[in-house]
Order: sequence, then C-alpha cells, then structure tokens
Amino acid sequence: MIELTVADDEEAAARTTAERIVSAIGDARTHRGVAHVALAGGRTPARAYELLAGLVPNWDGVHLWFGDERCVPLDDPESNHALVGRTLLAHIPARPGHPPPQVHPVVGIADDAAAAAEAYEHELHTIVDNGDPPLFDLALLGLGADGHTASLFPGDPALSEQQRLCVTVHGAKPPFARVTLTLPVLRAARRTIVLTAGTGKAWAVGAMLAGPSDRVPASLLADGADVELILDRAAAPV
Ligand code: 6PG
Repeated sequence: MIELTVADDEEAAARTTAERIVSAIGDARTHRGVAHVALAGGRTPARAYELLAGLVPNWDGVHLWFGDERCVPLDDPESNHALVGRTLLAHIPARPGHPPPQVHPVVGIADDAAAAAEAYEHELHTIVDNGDPPLFDLALLGLGADGHTASLFPGDPALSEQQRLCVTVHGAKPPFARVTLTLPVLRAARRTIVLTAGTGKAWAVGAMLAGPSDRVPASLLADGADVELILDRAAAPV
C-alpha cells in the first residue's frame, strides 16, 4: 500500500523526510538499541540530509547504508557516499561522548563491482543480523523519471532477483555501472519512504500509484509492503 504525503514544496518535502528519519531512528533505538537506515542517492535527498544533520540529537547506534551506489571511487562527487558525506556527515556537530553514525560504504566498488556487491551483502548479513533478509529500520529511496528506484531500472533482470540482497547492474542513468540492493531486502524494511519532487517526476508518481509493474520498479516496492511516498505538489498527480 502506498501512503501519499504531499508537501507544499521541495523544501517542505525535504523537512518532512528528515523528520521521518529522525522518528525511525528514535523508534529503532528505543526498541532495539540500534538503527539501520538505508539512504537514497541522487539529487533530491540532499536537502533532507542537510536538515537531518541538525535534527538527530545523537547518532549513537545508528548505521547508515546505501540503497545503491555508482561504480566510481567513493570520493568521486558522483558517488552516493560522497553525496551523504557532503550533505549530512559534514554538517553533524561533534558531540563529546557521542560518536558519529557508522557509515557502510560499498567498499571496492570502483575496482571490482561484483566482489564489492558480494562483500556488501555479507556485511549486511553480519551487521544487520536480525533476519533473512536483514531488516532495515528505514529504507529511504528516490524515484527516477522513468520509475526506477535505487538502481533498479525498468525491465532489468535484477527486478526478479529473489536470493541476492545486492547485485551489479548496468543502469539507464549515468554513471551506468552500479550496485543496488534488491527488492527482497528493500521490501522487508520496517519503514520504506520514497522521496521525490518536481514536475519531471509526475509521470513516475502516477505510474507508481497505478499498481505493480516491472516497467515501473518503484511500484514493486509496495507489492506486499507499505510505502510512504513523500512528494511536493509539483510531482503530485493532478
Ligand atoms: C542514484 C539514486 C537514484 C535516484 C533517482 C532520482 O544513485 O541515482 O539512487 O535511484 O534516487 O534516480 O534521482 P534524483 O533525485 O537526482 O532525481
């Protein structure tokens, strides 16, 4: 089921998303003492990450993962790891006695993507050892204009992957070589949020809401799971 949250504008959508992440972290730490959050890449979540940096009282027990990553060096501006570094981590104030979040980059992705994907999957099983598939407390995802999410693109064989948690893909958005989490682990998350904004995403929003289809990977997130779609009025269906 998809719950729509329509914000007045992109800033309001970002703030709502940041507040949801704070809430998910708080719930997870209260109930389990640890919070595992998978973050989205791309441009849209940048403002939410900037706001988030000042909203979380401390990052004790928080693990940040990546829903997908581009096959570039982790310090390449195009990497999602670098995006989170410059928009979130760089703005987290130092708090004595409170460590920063534990960030889990897709190590080695620029050298050997297949090996990096396997290693990431092993790391997920080892550290998020709460089930099979491992359960994120929150999976934050984006939405491409073509309906992709993470690096799951329309018609890609990765959409039918039921065993692997993390695979390599040749995507339809540059950088084309990517590693992505697969639907089983994304759907298993305790909370899934898709954040999008702008008129350019309106078609994808409508397609996502029309029901599950391999042509619209984001629509498959809600196939048997609950998803909150946070968007601005520009991306909202008329
Ligand atoms: C990526 C993202 C991707 C993104 C969408 C939307 O690595 O590119 O994970 O899935 O969320 O393409 O991107 P924008 O927010 O830049 O429109």
